[in-house]
Amino acid sequence: MRMPLPKPFSYSILLLLLFSFLSTTISTSFDFQSSGNDLKDVYPEILRDEAVARLQQLGQISDAEGYLERTFLSSASVKAGNLIRGWMEDAGLRTWVDSLGNIHGRVEGRNASAEALIIGSHLDTVVDAGIFDGSLGIISALAALKVLHVNGKLRTRKRPVEVIAFSDEEGVRFQSTFLGSAAVAGILPASALQITDKRGITLQDVLKENSIDITEEHLLQLKYDPESVWGYVEVHIEQGPVLEWAGFPLGAVNGIAGQTRLQVKVRGSQGHAGTVPMSMRQDPMAAAAEMIVLLESLCKHPKNFLSYDGNCKSSILESLSNSLVCTVGEISTWPSASNVIPGQVTFTVDLRTIDDTGREAVIYELSSRMYQICDRRSVSCTIDRKHDANAVICDSELSSQLKSAAFAAVKRMRGEIHTELPVLMSGAGHDAMAISHLTKVGMLFVRCRGGVSHSPAEHVLDEDVWASGLALLAFIETQL
Ligand SMILES: *[C@@H]1O[C@H](CO)[C@@H](O)[C@H](O)[C@H]1NC(C)=O
Ligand SMILES: [Zn+2]
Repeated sequence: MRMPLPKPFSYSILLLLLFSFLSTTISTSFDFQSSGNDLKDVYPEILRDEAVARLQQLGQISDAEGYLERTFLSSASVKAGNLIRGWMEDAGLRTWVDSLGNIHGRVEGRNASAEALIIGSHLDTVVDAGIFDGSLGIISALAALKVLHVNGKLRTRKRPVEVIAFSDEEGVRFQSTFLGSAAVAGILPASALQITDKRGITLQDVLKENSIDITEEHLLQLKYDPESVWGYVEVHIEQGPVLEWAGFPLGAVNGIAGQTRLQVKVRGSQGHAGTVPMSMRQDPMAAAAEMIVLLESLCKHPKNFLSYDGNCKSSILESLSNSLVCTVGEISTWPSASNVIPGQVTFTVDLRTIDDTGREAVIYELSSRMYQICDRRSVSCTIDRKHDANAVICDSELSSQLKSAAFAAVKRMRGEIHTELPVLMSGAGHDAMAISHLTKVGMLFVRCRGGVSHSPAEHVLDEDVWASGLALLAFIETQL
């Protein structure tokens, strides 16, 4: 059965179709009886029951009433951080909070000077979020380490293991993602301290409010020495429908799409809605509308807008056609009154593709066509690049180790399986993108219901939470 699926998944779908030809039927529920496994080897109390309870508990900690919202260093974020810190200690880790609000928990293993494995994800959320995005990666890591701790096997690993709960990945507050992981990776510029949120409060002020007096020098000191790090692993919900479609709880990730966020400001001539004739208006709202429709057409059919000569460039067009996704998710107008022609309209553009060269070409084409619209309509426009992240290719060795661990976990839970684990490309950004500037990265995706994320309807089966913890446990046991 083929369901209509959004474009970014078309590569994965092709792969999965191949797998499904080779495979026998896969049961979608776990069956311990037939697998003959001993339940005590798979630690359901820690990896499933406690992990699920913690996800629920963390999901209650919100800045908003009635829905989940935790933005950078908000009071809910600080509370969530303290809770996570307690869970880190419960798993036998030594903990600290750094000057960007990242929560760290670490165990040295047999050799404190060996390169460390870092496992991480983020504790901040979008507005009206689900409870699994980010949190799952932190909680399943802590669950796996707790199993080792309880069994007295945590301090005997051959290298240090550090879990980091990053303070800012979604970037809701400052429109600038990866503040926490970028600082650890050493790619956050000192100027970031001066960026402001919607109320005009700088990052430095927010830190000060939280008793963190940070200078530019401190910020640069957050960077980890690449020689002290072995690699980075992140478990995250898929946020798409492929694993559910394939009937697998876990999948390996081979790369993350690159992303650009733009802010477009359109300034026109503010006026009375009743008195200014249509022919004499410079209306930024209508201009913005035209620009947004242009964006949609360009991203749906990049081949109609970008023309290249020669064979090598056609591969870029091909990968854009398969992976380009663009969204205007936020728009604001001034003065925002029904009887006023607005003076200014501001909107965001979120643009993603796996092809970095193609992304630049799209931004160039989009900007020049947007400026043409502005000229024709006699409004003045500025297009600011707010965020850029190149596509990241996961380390192939780390990926195959994670893939084996995930395979072993699913097998331990289900008994014999006769297929390969799915391999996916991530259309969503992750902390792993920032950390790839520091060390090799690998990711595991966890199935989520209907592929729904960034929504309170986001859901991961208890069994799949369990599978993710068990996979990390298997990874640490075999590689460390
Ligand atoms: C500990 O790790 C360091 C750095 O990798 C290495 O040089 C050293 O030989 C290791 N010591 C032991 C006892 O394995
Ligand atoms: Zn996330």
